[in-house]
Amino acid sequence: MTLIPNQRHLFDIPANVAYLNTATMGPLPLAALEAGQRGLARKLHPWTIQDTDFFADTARLRPLLARLIGADDEGIALVPSASYGLATAALNLPLSRGQEILILEDQFPSNVYTWREHAAFTGASLRTVKAGGNGSLSDALLEAIGPATGIVACPHVRWTDGARIDLASVSRKCREHGAALVLDLTQSAGALSFDADDIQPDFMVAAGYKWLLGPYATGFLYVAPKHRQGRPLEQNWITRDNAGNFARLIDYTDGYAPGAERFDMGERSNFALLPALEDAVKLILHWGVGNIEETLGHRNRQLATDLAAMGLSSLPESERGPHYLSALLPASAPADLTARLKSENIHVSRRGDRLRICRGFQPSRQPIAPASPSRSARCTIPARRGRAARQSG
Ligand SMILES: Cc1ncc(COP(=O)(O)O)c(C=O)c1O
Repeated sequence: MTLIPNQRHLFDIPANVAYLNTATMGPLPLAALEAGQRGLARKLHPWTIQDTDFFADTARLRPLLARLIGADDEGIALVPSASYGLATAALNLPLSRGQEILILEDQFPSNVYTWREHAAFTGASLRTVKAGGNGSLSDALLEAIGPATGIVACPHVRWTDGARIDLASVSRKCREHGAALVLDLTQSAGALSFDADDIQPDFMVAAGYKWLLGPYATGFLYVAPKHRQGRPLEQNWITRDNAGNFARLIDYTDGYAPGAERFDMGERSNFALLPALEDAVKLILHWGVGNIEETLGHRNRQLATDLAAMGLSSLPESERGPHYLSALLPASAPADLTARLKSENIHVSRRGDRLRICRGFQPSRQPIAPASPSRSARCTIPARRGRAARQSG
């Protein structure tokens, strides 16, 4: 593993800004912005968009996302949100009365409401697992899985405190009891190693706008081979097996494109957002997820020690995602703490009684450097290029 040096030059983060809030919203790399702008600009000249363009971006993106999580290309569907992927999972995992869905205490709401609804619809019950005594959250989840478990729906790290779940053991126990495993990796995909081949989840979703550094309203769903003949949430034309022949789309067919593509959202061929996500994911693959994990873990280790010296404790590294740091605040912490920090150009987030300090790939900030002018002006399509393109069109 290699420690990644400062990557601030790849982002538009001025030297006096300490952006420590990737858990809320990852910063878009400059190259991804440019790719997105080029993609959006295609619509200036719609006559240049070919039928094949509706398939080209997704065909390039799917293998990159598959590589990121150690899956096969055919297992990847393109979705706009974690909740969309979770709803797809619920639709394809029937339960009966007497069965249980296990979730974690304080889990992200998209991964709670979906299961409340599914429990109400199927007659199954929903059980919330809490860490007990000295045991970890992961131990508590492992202990809760048993013959009545129908579905375990959990993250790799919990969004509030970074508590890490031992997915290999959870997956093993799910298989022992015939339970399905549904994962929301929104707070870890891109920053914490994960291998779909090893873990074998039934479904795994990740929103793209946090650790994947992509635009909002992008994401992907991994679907295990045994569910790839399942029911998509939507019935749209582009996931059908004759979709490439635009002239004959009225030859309606019951056949779908191969693999998990049938689960793609409608209008999945987003010309602006997908090229930006593609560029962000390429950057992550270039750095290497293992190296990202190692680098952020290294930086957080020192920070956790400094915070502990101030009386702010975090979960021990053995129990949290190394990329994720969330310090327990004392009851006396001011209600406007994050606003006060923001006024000092320090951007963090508060979730419950914790302060999340989630670094990206640049040092916290260079305090003595003067504020540098924003580089964003350089990223817009220059007028000269725009004019040239209009003339050539
Ligand atoms: C763990 C987790 N899952 C999902 C999301 C986003 O959910 P959705 O894509 O449904 O808006 C977040 C956002 O903070 C999150 O932390």
